[in-house]
Amino acid sequence: MKITDKFGRPLQDLRISVTDRCNFRCTYCMPKEIFGKNYPFLPKSDLLTFEEIERLAKLFVRLGVKKIRLTGGEPLLRRNLPDLIARLSAIEGLEDIGLTTNATLLEKMAIDLKAAGLKRINVSLDALDNELFQRINDSGIRTEHVLRGIDKAMEAGLEVKVNMVVKKGMNEHEIIPMARFFKEKGITLRFIEFMDVGKTNGWDFSKVIAKKEIYHLLNQHFELEAIDPAYLGEVAKRYRYVGTSTEVGFITSVSESFCSTCTRARIAADGKLYTCLFAAKGFDFRELLRSGKTDKEIEENIIGIWNSRGDRYSDERTEATVKNKDRIEMSYIGG
Ligand code: GTP
Ligand code: 5AD
Ligand code: SF4
Ligand code: SF4
Repeated sequence: MKITDKFGRPLQDLRISVTDRCNFRCTYCMPKEIFGKNYPFLPKSDLLTFEEIERLAKLFVRLGVKKIRLTGGEPLLRRNLPDLIARLSAIEGLEDIGLTTNATLLEKMAIDLKAAGLKRINVSLDALDNELFQRINDSGIRTEHVLRGIDKAMEAGLEVKVNMVVKKGMNEHEIIPMARFFKEKGITLRFIEFMDVGKTNGWDFSKVIAKKEIYHLLNQHFELEAIDPAYLGEVAKRYRYVGTSTEVGFITSVSESFCSTCTRARIAADGKLYTCLFAAKGFDFRELLRSGKTDKEIEENIIGIWNSRGDRYSDERTEATVKNKDRIEMSYIGG
Protein backbone atom coordinates (compact mmCIF):
# COMPACT_ATOMS: atom_id res chain seq x y z
CA MET A 1 0.00 0.00 0.00
CA LYS A 2 1.22 3.50 -0.79
CA ILE A 3 0.12 6.53 1.21
CA THR A 4 0.73 10.18 0.42
CA ASP A 5 0.66 13.44 2.35
CA LYS A 6 -1.09 16.76 1.64
CA PHE A 7 1.42 17.56 -1.11
CA GLY A 8 1.33 14.09 -2.68
CA ARG A 9 4.64 12.99 -1.15
CA PRO A 10 4.76 9.23 -0.54
CA LEU A 11 5.96 7.70 2.73
CA GLN A 12 9.13 5.84 1.72
CA ASP A 13 11.81 6.21 4.36
CA LEU A 14 11.82 5.73 8.07
CA ARG A 15 14.58 7.04 10.33
CA ILE A 16 14.55 5.36 13.72
CA SER A 17 16.51 6.83 16.60
CA VAL A 18 17.51 4.12 19.08
CA THR A 19 19.04 6.34 21.76
CA ASP A 20 19.30 10.05 22.55
CA ARG A 21 22.76 9.59 24.08
CA CYS A 22 26.12 10.10 22.43
CA ASN A 23 29.76 9.71 23.44
CA PHE A 24 30.62 12.89 21.50
CA ARG A 25 29.70 16.44 22.40
CA CYS A 26 29.97 18.03 18.96
CA THR A 27 29.80 21.74 19.54
CA TYR A 28 27.16 22.22 16.83
CA CYS A 29 24.94 19.37 18.04
CA MET A 30 25.31 18.59 21.76
CA PRO A 31 27.21 21.52 23.29
CA LYS A 32 28.64 20.51 26.67
CA GLU A 33 27.15 23.52 28.45
CA ILE A 34 23.67 22.15 27.68
CA PHE A 35 24.27 18.40 27.41
CA GLY A 36 26.16 18.14 30.69
CA LYS A 37 26.00 15.74 33.64
CA ASN A 38 22.51 16.80 34.60
CA TYR A 39 20.92 16.69 31.18
CA PRO A 40 17.66 14.72 31.34
CA PHE A 41 18.36 11.94 28.87
CA LEU A 42 15.59 9.38 28.38
CA PRO A 43 15.48 6.66 31.02
CA LYS A 44 15.67 3.10 29.69
CA SER A 45 12.00 2.41 30.38
CA ASP A 46 11.06 5.23 28.02
CA LEU A 47 12.90 3.70 25.08
CA LEU A 48 11.04 1.52 22.63
CA THR A 49 12.11 -2.10 23.00
CA PHE A 50 13.41 -4.00 19.97
CA GLU A 51 10.07 -5.87 19.82
CA GLU A 52 8.22 -2.56 19.72
CA ILE A 53 10.52 -1.11 17.06
CA GLU A 54 10.17 -4.25 14.95
CA ARG A 55 6.38 -4.15 15.20
CA LEU A 56 6.23 -0.50 14.16
CA ALA A 57 8.75 -1.05 11.35
CA LYS A 58 6.62 -3.86 9.90
CA LEU A 59 3.58 -1.60 9.84
CA PHE A 60 5.54 1.18 8.15
CA VAL A 61 6.86 -1.24 5.54
CA ARG A 62 3.28 -2.34 4.82
CA LEU A 63 2.49 1.33 4.18
CA GLY A 64 5.28 1.80 1.65
CA VAL A 65 8.54 2.26 3.55
CA LYS A 66 11.43 0.76 1.58
CA LYS A 67 14.36 2.10 3.52
CA ILE A 68 15.11 2.28 7.23
CA ARG A 69 18.00 4.23 8.71
CA LEU A 70 19.00 3.78 12.34
CA THR A 71 20.23 6.88 14.11
CA GLY A 72 20.83 8.28 17.60
CA GLY A 73 22.43 10.12 19.38
CA GLU A 74 25.00 7.48 18.65
CA PRO A 75 23.08 4.34 17.67
CA LEU A 76 25.95 1.95 18.44
CA LEU A 77 25.64 2.88 22.11
CA ARG A 78 22.32 1.03 22.20
CA ARG A 79 23.01 -2.37 23.67
CA ASN A 80 22.78 -5.36 21.29
CA LEU A 81 22.02 -3.24 18.26
CA PRO A 82 22.90 -6.09 15.84
CA ASP A 83 19.92 -8.00 17.26
CA LEU A 84 17.61 -5.19 16.17
CA ILE A 85 19.23 -5.12 12.73
CA ALA A 86 18.69 -8.86 12.37
CA ARG A 87 14.99 -8.43 13.22
CA LEU A 88 14.61 -5.59 10.73
CA SER A 89 16.51 -7.49 8.02
CA ALA A 90 13.91 -10.22 8.16
CA ILE A 91 11.05 -7.85 7.27
CA GLU A 92 9.72 -8.70 3.84
CA GLY A 93 9.54 -5.75 1.48
CA LEU A 94 12.23 -3.72 3.24
CA GLU A 95 14.95 -3.05 0.67
CA ASP A 96 17.61 -1.14 2.56
CA ILE A 97 18.91 -0.72 6.09
CA GLY A 98 21.44 1.99 6.90
CA LEU A 99 23.03 3.42 10.01
CA THR A 100 24.43 6.87 10.76
CA THR A 101 27.27 6.76 13.27
CA ASN A 102 30.30 8.57 14.64
CA ALA A 103 32.27 5.34 14.07
CA THR A 104 33.91 5.09 17.49
CA LEU A 105 32.48 1.61 18.12
CA LEU A 106 32.86 0.31 14.60
CA GLU A 107 36.18 -1.41 15.12
CA LYS A 108 34.46 -3.60 17.65
CA MET A 109 31.12 -3.97 15.92
CA ALA A 110 31.47 -3.79 12.13
CA ILE A 111 31.59 -7.53 11.56
CA ASP A 112 28.54 -8.22 13.74
CA LEU A 113 26.60 -5.39 12.11
CA LYS A 114 27.29 -6.74 8.65
CA ALA A 115 26.43 -10.28 9.68
CA ALA A 116 23.12 -9.04 11.08
CA GLY A 117 22.14 -7.64 7.68
CA LEU A 118 23.28 -4.02 7.74
CA LYS A 119 24.16 -2.76 4.27
CA ARG A 120 25.39 0.77 4.58
CA ILE A 121 26.79 3.21 7.09
CA ASN A 122 27.23 6.96 7.01
CA VAL A 123 30.06 8.13 9.22
CA SER A 124 30.18 11.66 10.63
CA LEU A 125 33.64 13.21 10.41
CA ASP A 126 34.12 16.97 10.23
CA ALA A 127 37.92 17.27 10.00
CA LEU A 128 41.06 15.23 9.38
CA ASP A 129 43.22 17.50 11.47
CA ASN A 130 43.23 15.77 14.82
CA GLU A 131 43.47 18.86 16.98
CA LEU A 132 40.51 20.47 15.24
CA PHE A 133 38.49 17.26 15.25
CA GLN A 134 38.97 16.93 19.00
CA ARG A 135 37.92 20.53 19.49
CA ILE A 136 34.74 19.85 17.50
CA ASN A 137 33.79 16.54 19.12
CA ASP A 138 34.81 17.84 22.55
CA SER A 139 35.30 14.35 23.89
CA GLY A 140 38.93 13.50 23.19
CA ILE A 141 38.33 11.03 20.35
CA ARG A 142 41.09 11.14 17.75
CA THR A 143 40.68 11.22 13.98
CA GLU A 144 42.64 7.97 13.62
CA HIS A 145 40.11 6.20 15.79
CA VAL A 146 37.32 7.13 13.36
CA LEU A 147 39.45 6.24 10.34
CA ARG A 148 40.19 2.82 11.80
CA GLY A 149 36.43 2.31 12.26
CA ILE A 150 35.85 3.23 8.62
CA ASP A 151 38.51 0.78 7.44
CA LYS A 152 37.08 -1.97 9.56
CA ALA A 153 33.59 -1.33 8.17
CA MET A 154 34.89 -1.50 4.62
CA GLU A 155 36.76 -4.71 5.34
CA ALA A 156 33.55 -6.14 6.73
CA GLY A 157 31.82 -5.36 3.42
CA LEU A 158 29.70 -2.41 4.50
CA GLU A 159 29.18 0.42 2.04
CA VAL A 160 30.57 3.57 3.65
CA LYS A 161 29.89 7.26 3.07
CA VAL A 162 31.24 10.15 5.12
CA ASN A 163 29.23 13.18 6.29
CA MET A 164 31.02 16.46 6.98
CA VAL A 165 29.06 19.30 8.52
CA VAL A 166 30.60 22.53 7.26
CA LYS A 167 30.29 25.52 9.56
CA LYS A 168 31.82 28.92 8.98
CA GLY A 169 34.79 29.58 11.23
CA MET A 170 34.90 25.93 12.27
CA ASN A 171 36.26 23.74 9.51
CA GLU A 172 36.05 25.31 6.04
CA HIS A 173 39.82 24.92 5.56
CA GLU A 174 39.30 21.15 5.88
CA ILE A 175 37.06 20.98 2.79
CA ILE A 176 39.85 20.31 0.29
CA PRO A 177 41.95 17.99 2.52
CA MET A 178 38.82 15.93 3.28
CA ALA A 179 37.83 15.82 -0.41
CA ARG A 180 41.31 14.72 -1.45
CA PHE A 181 41.60 12.08 1.25
CA PHE A 182 38.24 10.42 0.61
CA LYS A 183 38.59 10.68 -3.16
CA GLU A 184 41.81 8.67 -2.82
CA LYS A 185 40.00 6.11 -0.70
CA GLY A 186 37.08 5.88 -3.14
CA ILE A 187 34.61 6.89 -0.44
CA THR A 188 31.71 9.28 -1.06
CA LEU A 189 32.04 12.43 1.02
CA ARG A 190 28.96 14.58 1.56
CA PHE A 191 29.21 18.20 2.65
CA ILE A 192 26.30 19.16 4.89
CA GLU A 193 25.20 22.75 5.29
CA PHE A 194 25.01 23.60 8.97
CA MET A 195 21.30 23.51 9.92
CA ASP A 196 19.14 25.14 12.56
CA VAL A 197 18.05 21.88 14.13
CA GLY A 198 16.99 22.25 17.75
CA LYS A 199 17.40 25.42 19.76
CA THR A 200 20.74 24.96 21.49
CA ASN A 201 23.40 24.90 18.77
CA GLY A 202 23.80 28.65 18.30
CA TRP A 203 22.80 28.56 14.64
CA ASP A 204 22.43 31.61 12.48
CA PHE A 205 22.54 32.26 8.75
CA SER A 206 26.00 33.82 8.94
CA LYS A 207 27.51 30.49 10.04
CA VAL A 208 26.29 28.61 6.98
CA ILE A 209 28.60 27.91 4.06
CA ALA A 210 26.31 27.25 1.13
CA LYS A 211 26.78 24.48 -1.42
CA LYS A 212 27.61 27.03 -4.12
CA GLU A 213 30.65 28.21 -2.23
CA ILE A 214 31.88 24.69 -1.45
CA TYR A 215 31.29 23.60 -5.03
CA HIS A 216 33.22 26.58 -6.33
CA LEU A 217 36.15 25.74 -4.08
CA LEU A 218 36.12 22.06 -5.10
CA ASN A 219 35.99 23.03 -8.74
CA GLN A 220 39.32 24.80 -8.40
CA HIS A 221 40.94 21.49 -7.47
CA PHE A 222 38.87 18.77 -9.13
CA GLU A 223 36.76 18.30 -12.22
CA LEU A 224 33.20 17.31 -11.29
CA GLU A 225 30.19 16.04 -13.23
CA ALA A 226 26.61 15.97 -11.91
CA ILE A 227 24.79 12.63 -11.47
CA ASP A 228 21.04 12.06 -11.30
CA PRO A 229 19.49 11.15 -7.95
CA ALA A 230 19.27 7.40 -7.35
CA TYR A 231 15.62 7.63 -6.21
CA LEU A 232 12.87 10.15 -5.49
CA GLY A 233 13.68 12.16 -2.41
CA GLU A 234 17.40 11.48 -2.19
CA VAL A 235 18.78 14.01 0.26
CA ALA A 236 22.18 14.65 -1.32
CA LYS A 237 22.93 16.28 -4.65
CA ARG A 238 25.49 14.00 -6.25
CA TYR A 239 28.58 14.60 -8.37
CA ARG A 240 31.39 12.40 -9.65
CA TYR A 241 35.09 13.20 -9.92
CA VAL A 242 35.55 13.00 -13.69
CA GLY A 243 37.48 9.92 -14.77
CA THR A 244 36.74 8.04 -11.53
CA SER A 245 33.75 6.24 -10.04
CA THR A 246 34.08 8.20 -6.79
CA GLU A 247 31.29 10.56 -5.81
CA VAL A 248 30.93 13.64 -3.72
CA GLY A 249 27.64 15.12 -2.51
CA PHE A 250 26.00 18.16 -0.95
CA ILE A 251 23.16 18.29 1.52
CA THR A 252 21.66 21.69 1.01
CA SER A 253 18.83 22.10 3.47
CA VAL A 254 19.55 25.82 3.81
CA SER A 255 20.52 27.06 0.35
CA GLU A 256 18.45 24.68 -1.82
CA SER A 257 15.76 23.03 0.26
CA PHE A 258 14.43 19.65 -0.79
CA CYS A 259 11.07 19.52 1.01
CA SER A 260 9.08 19.02 -2.19
CA THR A 261 10.39 15.44 -2.44
CA CYS A 262 10.67 14.68 1.27
CA THR A 263 9.45 11.14 1.87
CA ARG A 264 10.82 10.68 5.40
CA ALA A 265 9.18 9.91 8.72
CA ARG A 266 11.15 9.79 11.95
CA ILE A 267 10.64 7.84 15.14
CA ALA A 268 12.49 9.11 18.20
CA ALA A 269 13.91 6.69 20.76
CA ASP A 270 10.86 7.19 22.99
CA GLY A 271 8.45 6.19 20.23
CA LYS A 272 7.29 9.64 19.14
CA LEU A 273 6.68 9.98 15.44
CA TYR A 274 7.80 13.20 13.73
CA THR A 275 7.00 14.14 10.16
CA CYS A 276 9.76 16.75 9.88
CA LEU A 277 13.29 17.18 11.25
CA PHE A 278 12.24 20.63 12.44
CA ALA A 279 9.01 19.57 14.12
CA ALA A 280 8.11 20.75 17.59
CA LYS A 281 5.68 18.02 18.49
CA GLY A 282 5.47 14.30 17.84
CA PHE A 283 2.76 11.65 18.01
CA ASP A 284 3.15 9.16 20.82
CA PHE A 285 3.27 5.68 19.33
CA ARG A 286 4.74 4.15 22.48
CA GLU A 287 1.46 4.90 24.18
CA LEU A 288 -0.42 3.14 21.37
CA LEU A 289 1.94 0.16 21.50
CA ARG A 290 1.74 -0.18 25.27
CA SER A 291 -2.01 0.27 25.57
CA GLY A 292 -2.86 -2.85 23.62
CA LYS A 293 -3.88 -1.28 20.32
CA THR A 294 -4.18 -3.64 17.35
CA ASP A 295 -1.97 -3.43 14.28
CA LYS A 296 -4.95 -2.12 12.36
CA GLU A 297 -5.50 0.69 14.85
CA ILE A 298 -1.84 1.68 14.83
CA GLU A 299 -1.80 1.58 11.04
CA GLU A 300 -4.82 3.88 10.91
CA ASN A 301 -2.97 6.36 13.09
CA ILE A 302 0.06 6.34 10.79
CA ILE A 303 -2.16 6.84 7.73
CA GLY A 304 -4.06 9.70 9.36
CA ILE A 305 -0.88 11.49 10.40
CA TRP A 306 0.82 11.08 7.03
CA ASN A 307 -2.29 12.09 5.04
CA SER A 308 -2.49 15.37 6.93
CA ARG A 309 1.25 16.12 6.80
CA GLY A 310 2.06 19.55 5.40
CA ASP A 311 5.65 20.04 6.65
CA ARG A 312 8.08 22.04 4.55
CA TYR A 313 10.21 23.82 7.12
CA SER A 314 13.31 24.36 4.98
CA ASP A 315 11.24 25.84 2.16
CA GLU A 316 9.82 28.34 4.60
CA ARG A 317 12.89 29.10 6.72
CA THR A 318 13.24 32.80 7.65
CA GLU A 319 14.95 34.75 10.43
CA ALA A 320 11.59 34.63 12.22
CA THR A 321 11.13 30.85 12.04
CA VAL A 322 14.73 30.35 13.15
CA LYS A 323 14.15 32.56 16.15
CA ASN A 324 10.63 31.71 17.18
CA LYS A 325 9.69 28.23 16.13
CA ASP A 326 10.16 25.46 18.68
CA ARG A 327 12.24 22.60 17.34
CA ILE A 328 13.31 19.29 18.81
CA GLU A 329 17.01 18.61 19.35
CA MET A 330 19.15 16.83 16.74
CA SER A 331 20.54 14.26 19.17
CA TYR A 332 16.99 13.29 20.13
CA ILE A 333 15.52 13.05 16.64
CA GLY A 334 18.62 11.66 14.90
CA GLY A 335 18.96 14.00 11.94
P1 GTP B 1 21.52 8.12 2.55
O1 GTP B 1 20.47 7.08 2.64
O2 GTP B 1 22.88 7.51 2.55
O3 GTP B 1 21.33 9.12 1.46
O4 GTP B 1 21.43 8.86 3.97
P2 GTP B 1 20.88 10.28 4.41
O5 GTP B 1 21.70 11.35 3.83
O6 GTP B 1 19.42 10.33 4.14
O7 GTP B 1 21.09 10.20 6.01
P3 GTP B 1 22.20 10.80 7.00
O8 GTP B 1 21.81 10.32 8.35
O9 GTP B 1 23.57 10.49 6.55
O10 GTP B 1 21.96 12.34 6.94
C1 GTP B 1 22.81 13.26 6.32
C2 GTP B 1 22.34 14.66 6.63
O11 GTP B 1 21.12 14.93 5.95
C3 GTP B 1 22.08 14.91 8.12
O12 GTP B 1 22.56 16.19 8.47
C4 GTP B 1 20.59 14.88 8.20
O13 GTP B 1 20.10 15.64 9.26
C5 GTP B 1 20.20 15.48 6.86
N1 GTP B 1 18.86 15.08 6.47
C6 GTP B 1 18.40 13.82 6.26
N2 GTP B 1 17.11 13.86 5.93
C7 GTP B 1 16.74 15.16 5.95
C8 GTP B 1 15.52 15.84 5.75
O14 GTP B 1 14.50 15.24 5.45
N3 GTP B 1 15.52 17.19 5.89
C9 GTP B 1 16.63 17.88 6.21
N4 GTP B 1 16.52 19.19 6.31
N5 GTP B 1 17.80 17.27 6.42
C10 GTP B 1 17.85 15.94 6.30
N1 5AD C 1 23.38 20.70 10.85
C1 5AD C 1 23.74 19.80 9.90
N2 5AD C 1 24.08 18.54 10.18
C2 5AD C 1 24.11 18.17 11.47
N3 5AD C 1 24.44 17.00 12.04
C3 5AD C 1 24.29 17.13 13.38
N4 5AD C 1 23.90 18.38 13.69
C4 5AD C 1 23.78 19.06 12.51
C5 5AD C 1 23.40 20.37 12.15
N5 5AD C 1 23.05 21.28 13.06
C6 5AD C 1 24.85 15.83 11.27
C7 5AD C 1 25.80 14.89 11.96
C8 5AD C 1 25.53 13.57 11.28
C9 5AD C 1 24.16 13.72 10.70
C10 5AD C 1 23.15 12.75 11.18
O1 5AD C 1 23.73 15.02 11.01
O2 5AD C 1 27.13 15.27 11.83
O3 5AD C 1 26.44 13.31 10.24
FE1 SF4 D 1 28.22 14.60 17.19
FE2 SF4 D 1 26.48 12.92 15.96
FE3 SF4 D 1 26.91 12.76 18.59
FE4 SF4 D 1 25.62 14.86 17.57
S1 SF4 D 1 24.90 12.74 17.58
S2 SF4 D 1 27.19 14.90 19.18
S3 SF4 D 1 26.68 15.12 15.62
S4 SF4 D 1 28.42 12.39 16.98
FE1 SF4 E 1 11.50 17.05 5.05
FE2 SF4 E 1 11.18 18.82 7.00
FE3 SF4 E 1 13.61 18.35 5.93
FE4 SF4 E 1 11.72 19.66 4.54
S1 SF4 E 1 12.72 20.36 6.39
S2 SF4 E 1 13.07 18.04 3.79
S3 SF4 E 1 9.87 18.58 5.22
S4 SF4 E 1 12.34 16.90 7.10
